[in-house]
Amino acid sequence: QPARAVDLVEEESGAPGEEQRRWEEARLGAASLKFGARDAASQEPKYQLVLEEEETIEFVRATQLQGDEEPSGPPPPTQAQQKESIQAVRRSLPVFPFREELLAAIADHQVLIIEGETGSGKTTQIPQYLFEEGYTKKGMKIACTQPRRVAAMSVAARVAREMGGGGEPLGIRFEDCTSERTVLRYMTDGMLLREFLSEPDLASYSVVMVDEAHERTLHTDILFGLIKDVARFRPELKVLVASATLDTARFSTFFDDAPVFRIPGRRFPVDIFYTKAPEADYLEACVVSVLQIHVTQPPGDILVFLTGQEEIEAACEMLQDRCRRLGSKIRELLVLPIYANLPSDMQARIFQPTPPGARKVVVATNIAETSLTIEGIIYVLDPGFWNKQPTSFQISCINIASANQRAGRAGRVAAGKCFRLYTAWAYQHELEETTVPEIQRTSLGNVVLLLKSLGIHDLMHFDFLDPPPYETLLLALEQLYALGALNHLGELTTSGRKMAELPVDPMLSKMILASEKYSCSEEILTVAAMLSVNNSIFYRPKDKVVHADNARVNFFLPGGDHLVLLNVYTQWAESGYSSQWCYENFVQFRSMRRARDVREQLEGLLERVEVGLSSCQGDYIRVRKAITAGYFYHTARLTRSGYRTVKQQQTVFIHPNSSLFEEQPRWLLYHELVLTTKEFMRQVLEIESSWLLEVAPHYYKAKELEDPHSKKMPKKIGKTREELG
Ligand code: CDP
Ligand code: MG
Repeated sequence: QPARAVDLVEEESGAPGEEQRRWEEARLGAASLKFGARDAASQEPKYQLVLEEEETIEFVRATQLQGDEEPSGPPPPTQAQQKESIQAVRRSLPVFPFREELLAAIADHQVLIIEGETGSGKTTQIPQYLFEEGYTKKGMKIACTQPRRVAAMSVAARVAREMGGGGEPLGIRFEDCTSERTVLRYMTDGMLLREFLSEPDLASYSVVMVDEAHERTLHTDILFGLIKDVARFRPELKVLVASATLDTARFSTFFDDAPVFRIPGRRFPVDIFYTKAPEADYLEACVVSVLQIHVTQPPGDILVFLTGQEEIEAACEMLQDRCRRLGSKIRELLVLPIYANLPSDMQARIFQPTPPGARKVVVATNIAETSLTIEGIIYVLDPGFWNKQPTSFQISCINIASANQRAGRAGRVAAGKCFRLYTAWAYQHELEETTVPEIQRTSLGNVVLLLKSLGIHDLMHFDFLDPPPYETLLLALEQLYALGALNHLGELTTSGRKMAELPVDPMLSKMILASEKYSCSEEILTVAAMLSVNNSIFYRPKDKVVHADNARVNFFLPGGDHLVLLNVYTQWAESGYSSQWCYENFVQFRSMRRARDVREQLEGLLERVEVGLSSCQGDYIRVRKAITAGYFYHTARLTRSGYRTVKQQQTVFIHPNSSLFEEQPRWLLYHELVLTTKEFMRQVLEIESSWLLEVAPHYYKAKELEDPHSKKMPKKIGKTREELG
């Protein structure tokens, strides 16, 4: 069994500064902390029985931290099997008593904001009420949008079942399967956007319900602008904006002070637990915690939040494996994954009732936070991370609003417990308050590409819920023109249309498109994936600095950092994607696993943008040229006074961690600039100035790439690593 990276075990000091440092280290993976070991002696015997040689995770109850009394919630539930008819279940949902009131409000107002706790029946019931009320007469349709495809499919299937006949006679369908007779359409927000292309006034819809509005996805935000416009000249169109959180005032203001309809929630108390110390490997910690809950806690199902398919599959495998080893020593544990690409029959399984005597553990992406409600969940396990799909590959810490939503999932049917795999300190000091809307997180270039692909040209006057600054919008337009995504009239080009299909930064998409010309898409995909998990590839434990640095230098290849990333990934793939290999080479296994995940997703998109799979067979010049084709906008040259960016003449420095730090090549490109003490270029690649004319003749003139003092260039300019500290 490969040893978990265990380097330092520290006594708990309890000092906040100390805890902050540990949390930072665990999060960044800079050091690996051995979890739970120090308290092995004080564990109750039953923990040890189950987990045998495994270590345990220690949690502290939040109320103990605050010195509060324990809450006295209702007694734990017996898992009474719901044998009632489907109609009785419908009548039992919190939204049901408000059916008439809600329909009256919809009749009275063109735009209505609906706020209600997750699981109250907004998504599945309200469109049915509208159908029953006759909103689909005369061939009109009702649209209900979801940010995630899985959620749209799942609720469509559920509603079809509730309305009887499997959806066929009535036509409640999800996307592609819709026919003429379809009256209720559950779709992703992106699909409704595309509807605008064929039907700009949405004439065949009587009601549009933008659901899960609180998620503020890019698509949802753009829908708001478009729908607000349509609603003005179609007074009979009803617009519903449904949200799970309390922040509905924003939506109301945007829609000219539309009224807010509140569905009172019901929620049982949830007891919160935090880990005493940060966890270095949250996946491992999850698996151990699930088993701990299973063995020590009364009946009730468990919900675990992870970030993506790869991770979920790994966790499920580990859980099943350990259950098998424990055999009859533990009760039956049903392990059920849910993520976007899971086949729908497998997805349906998470909703099936748990057999008596067994326990179910659902390992889910963020979809289970508000989009899907699974009955019977009493325990929530929250490692504190998410991947804000679909337009980002970045994994980040969740925020307080999300953490509270997740905890709330444990209190739907009875009093529950939420185990957070982070410390109370981290919750209080590290997490942000709420989600930053995607439109503010993503590159504005992507927003522009999306709007242009929807035929919206006047971006300056588009009604954004959160308008981007004018200057930033102009810069994005200029950059897209330089990248060849827009023509001189500001219209989308063929390559711009393809770039709009890729959920990555425009420069990165341009690089991927260029890999077709240079026949190196295999390598470029790897580089793109590695750049997406940026800056957390190598780790450097304090007591093994020399070893770690040596390991890193061993990956260096002439040409620069992008090739180093490629080299790391290739060697890791050759090792069979081994965790042991990562451990030995001071490479973060978790980051590599993510890179693999991203790479697979990107590979799946290649066909759509008409790029075939090909390899450069070691001819790295081709890889470097393809990268240059995407990043010619980010170039710098060495002058007498150090590096200057080519166009803006800004003074910049190579990051001390770069493989080119000592080399100081004359021409280079960088992935990004980070401002710390200085403007540092991170992930740099050596290029030749002639390549710039080859990949971007419209952008560079031969004259500006001439090197006036090419002969007299001093050998080395810039400070050494030590001088920079
Ligand atoms: O949208 P909201 O969160 O308000 O609630 P909903 O998704 O309409 O869920 C109402 C009920 O339907 C919950 O009790 C869910 O468990 C159930 N449901 C289900 O059984 N299967 C689905 N695919 C979706 C919802
Ligand atoms: Mg919903």
